[in-house]
Amino acid sequence: MKHIAVIGVGYVGLTTAACLAELGHHVTGVDMDEGKIVLLRRGDIPFSEPELPELVEQNVRAGRLNFTTSYQEAMQRADMAFICVGTPPTPSGHADMSQVEEAARQVALSATRSLIVVLKSTTPPGGNAERVADILARHLSPGINAPLVVNPEFLREGSAVYDTFHPDRAVIGAWDSAAAEAVAALYAPLRCPVLLTDPASAQLTKYASNAFLATKISFINEISRIAERVGANIHAIAQGMGFDERIGAEFLESGLGYGGSCFPKDVLALSAIAEQQGYYSQFLHAVTDINAGQRGLAVAKLGEVLGDLHGKAIGVLGLAFKSHTDDVRESPALSVISMLCQQGAVVRAYDPVATSTAQKVLPPHAALEYCADAYAAVRGCHAVLIATNWPEFRSLDWSRVHSSMAGNAVMDGRGLLSPDAMRGMGFEYLAFAN
Ligand SMILES: NC(=O)c1ccc[n+]([C@@H]2O[C@H](COP(=O)([O-])OP(=O)(O)OC[C@H]3O[C@@H](n4cnc5c(N)ncnc54)[C@H](O)[C@@H]3O)[C@@H](O)[C@H]2O)c1
Repeated sequence: MKHIAVIGVGYVGLTTAACLAELGHHVTGVDMDEGKIVLLRRGDIPFSEPELPELVEQNVRAGRLNFTTSYQEAMQRADMAFICVGTPPTPSGHADMSQVEEAARQVALSATRSLIVVLKSTTPPGGNAERVADILARHLSPGINAPLVVNPEFLREGSAVYDTFHPDRAVIGAWDSAAAEAVAALYAPLRCPVLLTDPASAQLTKYASNAFLATKISFINEISRIAERVGANIHAIAQGMGFDERIGAEFLESGLGYGGSCFPKDVLALSAIAEQQGYYSQFLHAVTDINAGQRGLAVAKLGEVLGDLHGKAIGVLGLAFKSHTDDVRESPALSVISMLCQQGAVVRAYDPVATSTAQKVLPPHAALEYCADAYAAVRGCHAVLIATNWPEFRSLDWSRVHSSMAGNAVMDGRGLLSPDAMRGMGFEYLAFAN
């Protein structure tokens, strides 16, 4: 069993740390955010992720998992250091590598023995892995080695623990084959396919995978625009397409489009990588543009039914970018709320877990109120917009919703409800090509 330092205990780092500890390793999570470490030491989890609180608690209690703000403490006996810090987008769409570079510098300065450095953060090919390896080499004490292994993460928020224990594959890119084998050995108990390759290919595999999934979403949204014009039903079309194993049923849900901390930034970063090399990817730009357009389309559909949105009360169900997470980064729900407020609507918003994260991001607005539950959000509203695919919205008592509203329009931005059932209850049911 290894001693492992995990640098950055956000969504990826904390999940990685807890899962490695569960596999029997001794793991220390380091974060520069003191508040996060205080919470974790107290036994609290700084964000909402199913199964993670129990897993963290279990492994802390077993003495295999602890947290610190001190690199020295974490690196003392580390055989491996996993870099899991953020790579947010810069204004030009490139991945901001500053957190990764600083983490690599700190790892190297604190290393007292040779170790393997595993780069889990999503980083673009084209010189970044080389730069991180160079930072490590420049800051290590003489006689200490730290080969770099690129091992991108594919987990999904909302099922991060499940995904970590049941990965579809591990992609391991390294110049040093012994280091690559050592990282591959960590995955042995998980019995998944392991791809050993070079760092640039591992990096690009991550971007290509996210861009492909984002493409499926934009593709079905593009088809829904055509379907709407010819009177076809997008759910039937998606189902019919999804039966084809070459296509697959997942990520073919038309709606408000993708959000979150990965797809939007990774598609942008892939475009930026291409442009840096002198290639303009019309295709990737189209994926982003179609996605961005869905939000305005949803608001326009409400406008068509309600007329002027000024002074109209709209209940927005969902703030998180998808269900089972409190992450609101790039959440379509927040864009839609901003558009509605700009058009003078009064917004009454509810999310099962993401209200406090949304409040930190959305500027306060006199016409925006956060509600304690879905029924409170829809009460007295002229329309309801479903912005996040929380299953609880499907199982609301919709006849109770109907009788408590001032109007009857429901814009189902996530295709959660049955159009026939909703229309049967007297709703003006709106969706994308339905
Ligand atoms: N969130 C996801 O679903 C997901 C999935 C796959 C890959 N990724 C990638 O994984 C990486 C991390 O994503 P995340 O969502 O976990 O980010 P996050 O913002 O939730 O967590 C990053 C953490 O790193 C800490 N940090 C930043 N700089 C540091 C430093 N120098 N030393 C120590 N700690 C530092 C931050 O305080 C924060 O707690 C990104 O590159 C992301 O693209 C994310």
